[in-house]
Amino acid sequence: MNAKAEADGPMTRDSWAMVTGSTSGIGRETALLLAEDGYQILVCGRDRDRAAETRKMIVSAGGHAVDLVADLTDIAAVRRLIDETRQVLDGDPLDVLINNAGGGVFAPTEATTENMFDDAFNLNVKAPYMLAGEFAPLMAERGRGAIVNVGSLGTRMAASGASAFQAAKAGLSMLTKSWTAEYGPRGVRVNSVDPGYILTRVNEDIRDMFGNYLASLPAGRGGTPQEVAEVIRFLVSPQASYVQGAVLTVDGGKNAVVVM
Ligand SMILES: NC(=O)c1ccc[n+]([C@@H]2O[C@H](COP(=O)([O-])OP(=O)(O)OC[C@H]3O[C@@H](n4cnc5c(N)ncnc54)[C@H](OP(=O)(O)O)[C@@H]3O)[C@@H](O)[C@H]2O)c1
Repeated sequence: MNAKAEADGPMTRDSWAMVTGSTSGIGRETALLLAEDGYQILVCGRDRDRAAETRKMIVSAGGHAVDLVADLTDIAAVRRLIDETRQVLDGDPLDVLINNAGGGVFAPTEATTENMFDDAFNLNVKAPYMLAGEFAPLMAERGRGAIVNVGSLGTRMAASGASAFQAAKAGLSMLTKSWTAEYGPRGVRVNSVDPGYILTRVNEDIRDMFGNYLASLPAGRGGTPQEVAEVIRFLVSPQASYVQGAVLTVDGGKNAVVVM
């Protein structure tokens, strides 16, 4: 194994992975899988009870986790999260950052207020930017690390009534490339996963409206959070050692075909 591959290889038990939005859905499944792979997990979300629930799930499976609560639309809270993370790490390396927390208000452009727009960009772009700005240079100093940004199929295909969300996720998608240019040469692999329609809390209330749409996909169904989490796990793993700046769509084939 060459030096680069070794640096990219399995992390020590001291190593941490931060998964934003790991209080439910894709983020929670990712946290559980990375814990299974030996990472200590920084669980983050807004909801204290669900954060504790994820931590307990990891601990009862034999892993180690700490839960931190922050609303990432609030930039002061993002700064606090960074400070608290530094305290938890206490000198241990953070080798993995999963920028998964995301979402936004869905409204036509003319009904999107400045606050709604700022929230979408704070959550989906600025918070990941601040977290990477803090932790990617430290990964680069050690010559190893992996960042995965969770985007959306909506970065490349528009649906009416989601302009601020789509623009923000498109910004995050570009950051995958910018950070690959900046930190890739120093051993930090940065990639994106773009989910299509995944069965999580975000679309729980509107699921009935999507029956025909999902049936028309090549996969014939919506995806599960586990199916996205497994792709994130792969991108973090040494098996993906030559994958940098990539966007992997996990969408049951939606990006490839015209759905009639
Ligand atoms: N499900 C889909 O069909 C789909 C499609 C495309 C993209 N995505 C993307 O996939 C990612 C995960 O979503 P999901 O489907 O797993 O949804 P989910 O089950 O609702 O999980 C969203 C996670 O993000 C956290 N979060 C949301 N707003 C936050 C905020 N302001 N501050 C801090 N944390 C916040 C939530 O924390 P709380 O529990 O505290 O609310 C939760 O942990 C998101 O980036 C989403 O845009 C999902």
